Parts: sequence; structure tokens; C-alpha cells
Amino acid sequence: MRVLVTPDYRTLSCQAAEIIADAVRFEPRLTLGLPTGSTPLGMYEELVRKHSGENLDFSRVKTFNLDEYIGLAPNHPRSYHTYMHLHFFDHVHIPMKHIHIPDGAPGIDTDLESIRYEQAIQQAGGIDLLVVGIGSNGHIAFNEPGSSFASRTRMVDLARETRANAGRYFVSEDEVPRRAITVGIGTILESRRILLLASGSGKSDAVARALQGPVSEDMPASALQGHSDVTAILDAAAAPCRDEC
Ligand code: PGA
Repeated sequence: MRVLVTPDYRTLSCQAAEIIADAVRFEPRLTLGLPTGSTPLGMYEELVRKHSGENLDFSRVKTFNLDEYIGLAPNHPRSYHTYMHLHFFDHVHIPMKHIHIPDGAPGIDTDLESIRYEQAIQQAGGIDLLVVGIGSNGHIAFNEPGSSFASRTRMVDLARETRANAGRYFVSEDEVPRRAITVGIGTILESRRILLLASGSGKSDAVARALQGPVSEDMPASALQGHSDVTAILDAAAAPCRDEC
């Protein structure tokens, strides 16, 4: 695993965007796995800037988002559909048919949707470059502690800590959905290349355990130690040894 420690969040965002931009320039038909949350916001902003300022062309790129809440319609203000359109898709001209986000709308058959999503990834030839954040409890996508490293796309219960962290985006924590649909750790590990992003001191313990601790299903992000092409980009606050580094 390559670990890049950047001085600040802005540099982290620019480096992540540059890695994606280089990959898209090299392979215009790239298939990306994309995260949501606060960490990738700067990266999306920078990619949008590269699209408009440097003619970075996303028109042949395919995307698969990593997760979505269950029980929110796609147009709900807090759905990950809304997040992605607001921060990225509405600005970079990716054809709608290239965009994939798990459907967590009320009434959805989550088993069927999970199978459909895995098939769509396979039909696209797998994910070339998957970008993922890390939760303060070590989750990747919504694979909470205890998730099998062989897990595939499925419905999951969100951990209390995950719902508490998401509470800031909702009127109250009670409104945070209790369940989500997420790609599995097995799905993530099949990606050809993985970019892990972590920012802020609230992530440093999880990052230390994920990168340096034992590989254990109690720490989902530690599964990445078993992948041959992972780059972790951390800002100084999230780096495990920030006093010495
Ligand atoms: P965050 O979430 O980027 O909002 O910190 C990351 C995650 O929970 O995976």
C-alpha cells in the first residue's frame, strides 16, 4: 500500500483528483467507483474544475456509487443520488446511462436491487479505480465492523456511530435512515485499483488500525491491506503518526 500524507485537506483533494484525471486521460472508458460523504467534496470540486478548465472529458467514463440509504427517494435532499448530481454529475457531462447508484427508494426489493447492481458492475467489466473514504469506526462504503471480507452488494444495518455522524446532515439523528444498500468488501476488493481518502483527526485512530493493525473483520478498512494496488491519501491530521511524520 502506498501512503501519501498531504499537509492539508486541499492538497489531499487535489492529489486525489489528479490521480483520477490521469487515469481518465489514460483510459477514457474508465469505470470508477465513487464515494459520498464530506471527505470527497474537495476532490469532486477539483474534478469539476478540471472538466471546465482543462477539458477533462468524462463522456465515456462509467461510474458506480458505493452506497445509498434505504428509504429515501432519489430526489430526497439527503439521498446520495442528490449529493452526486449536486456535487459532480450535473457539472461534468457523464451520460445518464453511464451513471449507476444503488436504488434505495421506499418499497425497493433490496435483494433484487443488490443482484442487479453486482451484475451491472460485472457487465461493465468491473471497477478500474474505486475511491473510498473511511468511517471513524473503520467502515468502508457502508460495510460496518463485522462485515465479511467476502461480502457483496446487499442491504445492511447502519452502526449507531455511523448514524450519529450522519445526524449533522439531517434535522435530527432520528431521521437518519437505519439501513442502506452498499457494495460489499468483496466487491471493493475486486476493483483493480483503490484510492482511500481520510481527512481530519477524527479519522486518525481508524486509519492507524486500518493500515497498521491486524487484518480483522472488526476493522473493515483493514481488508485493503490484502489488495495489491491501494493508495491511501491522508491529510496530516488523519495520518497515524502525525507527531513524528
Ligand atoms: P465522511 O465519511 O467523508 O463524511 O467522513 C466517510 C465514511 O463514512 O466513509
